[in-house]
Amino acid sequence: MAKLVINDAKKQGRIEPEIYGQFSEHLGRGIYEGLFVTEDSGIENVNGMRTDVVEALKELEVPVLRWPGGCFADEYHWMDGIGPKENRKRMINTNWGGVVEDNSFGTHEFMELCRQLGCKTYVNGNLGSGTVQEMAEWIEYMTFEGVSPMADLRKKNGHEEPWKVDYFGVGNENWGCGGNMNPEHYANEYRRYQTFVKNLDEDKDQIQKVCCGANVDDYYWTKDVMKTCFAHVEKKKHGNMDYLSLHYYVHPEGWEIKGSATDFDEEVWYKTLSKTLYMDELIERHGTIMDRFDPLKKIGMSVDEWGTWFTCEPGTNPGFLYQQNTVRDALVAGITLNIFNKHCDRVKMACIAQTVNVLQAMLLTEGEKMIKTPTYYVFHMYRHHQGADLISSELTGVEDIGMGEWYVPQVTESVSEKDGIITITLNNLSATDALHMDVQFTGDRDYEVVEANIVTHQDMHAYNTFEEPENVKEETFKDYKLEGGRMKLTLPACSVAEIRVK
Ligand code: AHR
Repeated sequence: MAKLVINDAKKQGRIEPEIYGQFSEHLGRGIYEGLFVTEDSGIENVNGMRTDVVEALKELEVPVLRWPGGCFADEYHWMDGIGPKENRKRMINTNWGGVVEDNSFGTHEFMELCRQLGCKTYVNGNLGSGTVQEMAEWIEYMTFEGVSPMADLRKKNGHEEPWKVDYFGVGNENWGCGGNMNPEHYANEYRRYQTFVKNLDEDKDQIQKVCCGANVDDYYWTKDVMKTCFAHVEKKKHGNMDYLSLHYYVHPEGWEIKGSATDFDEEVWYKTLSKTLYMDELIERHGTIMDRFDPLKKIGMSVDEWGTWFTCEPGTNPGFLYQQNTVRDALVAGITLNIFNKHCDRVKMACIAQTVNVLQAMLLTEGEKMIKTPTYYVFHMYRHHQGADLISSELTGVEDIGMGEWYVPQVTESVSEKDGIITITLNNLSATDALHMDVQFTGDRDYEVVEANIVTHQDMHAYNTFEEPENVKEETFKDYKLEGGRMKLTLPACSVAEIRVK
């Protein structure tokens, strides 16, 4: 029988809330329609932000939102998105469907969205096609309080006070859509551009700079960028590189074919989950390279794009990356977040792609309707890990299950503690079989369950639709028995659960 031993006396580091971050790009119906609507849309909103969407996201306690891209970031010229809306430039979104981008959602709107969500801001700058001056002026526009051309322009555009930029990405995927650079070239560009991403007010919190990291398993990129930038980082009081990013998407059938979001067999279920588990190896191996330069782990890994990327839904614009979200996505989310928790010594931020209507979204909208996806409920349960201490947990007796060449352990877990409450999150990866588990707490106290919840369905393909919005949802989990320091539980097939004890 699978056994989990939890030693709450052994703390293993803080799980940064930012690991539960979100990413929203100017892509398809992610921002326009999904988050931001026109005043004449008839959809309830506050300053253009959809009330239903903002309320639902607030329940997730979103810690940080990354914007405006993605590939869009390295074609985005921020000045196109400020000032009176009627004067804003209309342009073609060349990356995503060739549609007209009217720039009605710009810097002021992003900051307003983050204000409503109560989250930190992660702005991704344009290194690929923008100038150093443009990047420096954007920082000045957003953050400078005093008298200056850009601060004056912001005030003229209606925002007297500067905003706080918590994180600033110096380019995105510069090995690809962000300029097709090799690592040496990018690293030198990074050094130059980031010089002008200045903290204009030394008394305020510093802007944390995110350097573009590798695509999937490009270890050469990590090594070269670290080598070129790290010595430079060390000399400064406030590092010139605070984070190095990593992007990894799960495509069950590979990048070219991808695979359907809803139509898959049992073997593809296991293939998808096996590819999800690959995140662990990626973090280990990129982390080992980072350790060689940065053994004190001053630089955080920011997995600021992750999640499933399937073939888009039939009949939708292929450039819009709209996909359904099943119980399988819930497992991908649960497994990945457990991996991040367990690597909290190096992974300091992560942003799932993408919040609304794009890729592995939390929410889907259709006109004025909105539904929550299975992934949404996983983020809702896992929010209890934000800012908690990872505590030691050891699994034994776990069988490998699978089909064809795709085998995975039947269960994954992570455990944390905050304010005296232990949160255990468990995933049963089996498409067919329940799992009986024994959980043992080593502490010397009387444990009691505070709450227990689960996301599951007997059909691995199950998802929510606008007609049936609550087919898959978070429910109370009851199949456990706790006596003293021992708990016996049964996790149904295809499930993600959280159990909280004190
Ligand atoms: O999230 C969709 C795209 O995936 C992003 O624009 C890009 O950074 C990545 O390739």
